[in-house]
Amino acid sequence: MKSSTKRSMLTAVMICGLTAVSAVALAQDKDAVLKNRESLMKGQGKDLGSVKAYIDGKGDQAQAEAGAANLTQSTRKIPDVFPPGSGGPNSDGKFAAKPVIWSDWNKFIDAQKNAVSKADVLFTAVKSGNKTSIETAFGDLGKNGCGACHETFREKLKD
Ligand code: HEC
Repeated sequence: MKSSTKRSMLTAVMICGLTAVSAVALAQDKDAVLKNRESLMKGQGKDLGSVKAYIDGKGDQAQAEAGAANLTQSTRKIPDVFPPGSGGPNSDGKFAAKPVIWSDWNKFIDAQKNAVSKADVLFTAVKSGNKTSIETAFGDLGKNGCGACHETFREKLKD
């Protein structure tokens, strides 16, 4: 056998191996995916809360800054916690991720990138310590970043 033929056979075997690995990754336990998603989203709620506490004079700037810094990271991770096939009710059955997330993935990513840029603006504002700009950036992220995505892609199932 020519060595170039051997090489291409080897490549084919390697590609098959990789495909098998990603099939396993796709079939990863859905419960784990939902838990990860929930903890990322709840963490975002907590981080926004530390900024709110600073605005209200109940928390310090260092904590608000840490929260805003986390948000610049967590908003970037959102696509990772929505793998294909992870739609449907969350763990307590009160909310669901809508199927349109995957049928219109680009629109979902637009909403996610929108939240990322608003989180970046909030982080800059918190570092400046200027409460007026923090309040504006906080409201903008909450309503037009988090809220806008929830409105389109998250469904309330029951109270
Ligand atoms: C790109 C879309 C998107 C963005 C941006 C987004 N979320 Fe979410 N979030 C969702 C979806 C979809 C769900 C429902 C997931 C589910 O039920 O499995 C959700 C669920 C949640 C939950 C409920 C978690 C649970 O299961 O208990 C909280 C809290 C939350 N988000 C907070 C936030 C906050 C705070 C922000 C902004 C900093 C944010 N989210 C930004 C899409 C988004």
